[in-house]
Amino acid sequence: MKRSDLEVLIDQAVLHRRIAELGEEISHDYRDKDLALVGILKGSFVFLADLSRALSVECTIDFLGLSSYGSSTTSSGVVQITSDLSAPIEGRDVLVVEDIIDTGLTMRYLLDNLTTRHPRSLRICTLLHKPARTKVEVPIHYTGFTIEDKFVIGYGLDYDNRFRNVPYIGHKVT
Ligand code: IMP
Ligand code: MG
Repeated sequence: MKRSDLEVLIDQAVLHRRIAELGEEISHDYRDKDLALVGILKGSFVFLADLSRALSVECTIDFLGLSSYGSSTTSSGVVQITSDLSAPIEGRDVLVVEDIIDTGLTMRYLLDNLTTRHPRSLRICTLLHKPARTKVEVPIHYTGFTIEDKFVIGYGLDYDNRFRNVPYIGHKVT
């Protein structure tokens, strides 16, 4: 695949407007809390960079590296932590920042894992949600965009580990 095979689905201006709104909403909700942002690597790094700068509240930023076994374009639900958080989250108000929730299998695993560490609260913020593909329901508190069942690329999301640096959300034209 080449970058020229990509068609824009969500452009940069629309992304930035929506992220500013999410930033305001989250800043309001966490004004009296102890916010710990947890970005899921690798896909969330671009979104987290923009979302965190749209916040007016204090927060810490940490990352959790996950890889799911199997094909690069579908989730098996068998998830491995490749790099753990660098600090405990016990008693903190954790907001998991994810690029996309597709089947929900990755997030289900993650929520179960993080719950055992006893955060004070635990919520999810995802840039994209594909409800048509849901296999397990997970509570999503903040959603950037709900999208159709299309494989999307860019703004952190990869195709075979490439194109994460494309500055918009695109999909492959066939
Ligand atoms: P889930 O476990 O099926 O919800 O999948 C979650 C993970 O699959 C995401 O964090 C992405 O890494 C990957 N993924 C799912 N859909 C897409 C897509 O359309 N483009 C790129 N990666 C995706
Ligand atoms: Mg991926």
